Amino acid sequence: MTLPGIKQFDLSGKAAIITGGSQGLGLAMAAGLASAGANVMLVNRNADEGAKAADELSRDFGVTARSFAADITDPAQAEAMVGAAQAAFGRVDILINSAGINIRGPIDELTPDDFKRVMDVNVTGTWLCCRAVTPLMKAAGSGKIINLASTLGLVGLGNRTPYTSSKGAVVQMTRALGLELAPFNINVNAICPGPFLTAMNIPIADTEEGKKFIVGATALGRWGHLREIQGAAIFLASDAATYMVGSMLTVDGGWTAR
Ligand SMILES: NC(=O)c1ccc[n+]([C@@H]2O[C@H](COP(=O)([O-])OP(=O)(O)OC[C@H]3O[C@@H](n4cnc5c(N)ncnc54)[C@H](OP(=O)(O)O)[C@@H]3O)[C@@H](O)[C@H]2O)c1
Repeated sequence: MTLPGIKQFDLSGKAAIITGGSQGLGLAMAAGLASAGANVMLVNRNADEGAKAADELSRDFGVTARSFAADITDPAQAEAMVGAAQAAFGRVDILINSAGINIRGPIDELTPDDFKRVMDVNVTGTWLCCRAVTPLMKAAGSGKIINLASTLGLVGLGNRTPYTSSKGAVVQMTRALGLELAPFNINVNAICPGPFLTAMNIPIADTEEGKKFIVGATALGRWGHLREIQGAAIFLASDAATYMVGSMLTVDGGWTAR
């Protein structure tokens, strides 16, 4: 018997949509997929940032990298995003839902709009993108959907009620959709990152409290490096992950191992 070995991680000829792909973890995962051979479409609201990031990926990895400006909270824009990727690549094999926001604060200092906004982007937006890509993947008879949950979808943390609520919902959405789409050969899984020093975390990065927290919360005592998210994304996007359904892959420096 011959097993496929490392070639299972080869994404040559595949096409991926990465929401939130203009920066941070989304861009790092897009670069990971591109390094494995995938063509990628980066999706975010700021068209200039998206175009700049796509140019860099084309140049660095020799794949076709496009950008598409869309607000994922709008159902029509989520569908237009999938249509644009299909037009550009003739297929959509992989969707990574990385667009997300965080609004922190004590519950009595947050507004109802703060809560709604976080739920709208992190939960409704993720759901809309999953919904938009499903018909194509069903028709193709295969697909990979990777949602970005968080350690904060698995454990609690004070002053984060909108974000933890939203990521808990992403965890459950991933499990439910994983079960729903498994019969169609579509693998739906999530990555639960620990702390990575992206724009989202700049507000806490330089505070004494923030620094102490990261050292104490993670077994490794440090922030994650952007390259450390890439393997998980390549794995879940690849043929190596065809038996993964509704899984939460933690990449968190040991935060949730305690
Ligand atoms: N960084 C961490 O430590 C960490 C830990 C656990 C989980 N996560 C999760 O990982 C994902 C990526 O986080 P990150 O740290 O890379 O964040 P980031 O650097 O702040 O990037 C967020 C991305 O989402 C896009 N975005 C935001 N709202 C959008 C909308 N309505 N429509 C379309 N795009 C939108 C942003 O671009 P525009 O503003 O141009 O739209 C940007 O590209 C998020 O889901 C986050 O919750 C992050």
